[in-house]
Amino acid sequence: MKLNPFRIEHYYGKHEFTAKYMLSSSDAQSLSMAELLALEPNARAELDSLWLGYTESPGAPYLRQAISQIYVGMSADDALVVSSAEEGIFIAYHALVGSGDHVIVETPCYESALELARSTGAEVSLWERHFEDGWAHDLAALENLIRSNTKMLYINTPSNPTGINMKPEVLDAVIHLAREKNIIVLCDEVYRELEHDPKNRLPAICDLYDNAISLGSMSKSYGLPGLRLGWLVSKNHALLEKMLHFKFYTTICSSAPSEFLTALALRQRQVILARNLGIVQHNFPLLEAFLARHSDLFSWVKPNASPIGFPRVKIKGSVMDFCEEVVEKTGVLLLPGSVYDQPNHIRMGYGRSNMPEALEQLERYLTS
Ligand SMILES: Cc1ncc(COP(=O)(O)O)c(C=O)c1O
Repeated sequence: MKLNPFRIEHYYGKHEFTAKYMLSSSDAQSLSMAELLALEPNARAELDSLWLGYTESPGAPYLRQAISQIYVGMSADDALVVSSAEEGIFIAYHALVGSGDHVIVETPCYESALELARSTGAEVSLWERHFEDGWAHDLAALENLIRSNTKMLYINTPSNPTGINMKPEVLDAVIHLAREKNIIVLCDEVYRELEHDPKNRLPAICDLYDNAISLGSMSKSYGLPGLRLGWLVSKNHALLEKMLHFKFYTTICSSAPSEFLTALALRQRQVILARNLGIVQHNFPLLEAFLARHSDLFSWVKPNASPIGFPRVKIKGSVMDFCEEVVEKTGVLLLPGSVYDQPNHIRMGYGRSNMPEALEQLERYLTS
């Protein structure tokens, strides 16, 4: 298996734990262990008595039950727990596609969605979205990409890096096409439930199409990436079974403390989501006003979900040099779009509570 360098993680690996301000993070503001445990009266005592043996490979039953509650028509049996969405992407591709198959990946996207598809030996085509078209989904282009051996389509809504939710009619059309051509749809929904207006939430794909898999995670909308816990949910149990067999070779089972803490967080997810959405709704107008004040430098398609956006920047040199200079001079970490093969963009994040201060630092630098 050949894997190309993971440019996003390399860039973050270099700066994430030394930069003073994260102004590009895709995760919402996290909680401390004490804050999470305080959400239920007996949680501390239950954690203290947790047995640290192996857990069930598909996931602890009480956790699978908590996960199923995110969806409309799902039960615990429809969920497979994984140790992060990253493991979920790896398992889904490697368990379900291989050489001789064709995979279509929506881009720009989180890098592993593309590179892990390539690592299976399958042929991979990009379903490209473009800033110039408002990051629209071109359904005719998707239809043209489909071949007789197209086995899987990866989509991501709300999307990293654009922060834009797929239009409901586009999702319907994608499912219609996939059903007609018998294509598995892996829908990365790690930013679901953090729509800026909850009225715009799309149904999860597992509730709409039996041959689809919804990928979820504690990392983004719930702001708990340190739990390293995610899930794959589908009505197609043959797919779940194949992915479970693959999981026996990756992690066997997930971490027992993380399963416990995830189930707690999911039972209390409305409290966590309200807090995280509050931070996003406070920060978003500040970022919008900042970009408007600097419209000579930045333009964007306004995000409507998630804690991220992907403005275009007009600068002389490369965005990589620009971001390196900004972090060196101000301690503010932006993410250069070149790591997404989008060299005219930067990713900005507005899910952290110190975002206004980070923005001030960036503004001071830009106007100095
Ligand atoms: C779209 C998308 N999918 C998956 C992941 C991986 O998330 P996790 O922390 O659960 O591995 C990320 C992380 O940035 C992401 O943006």
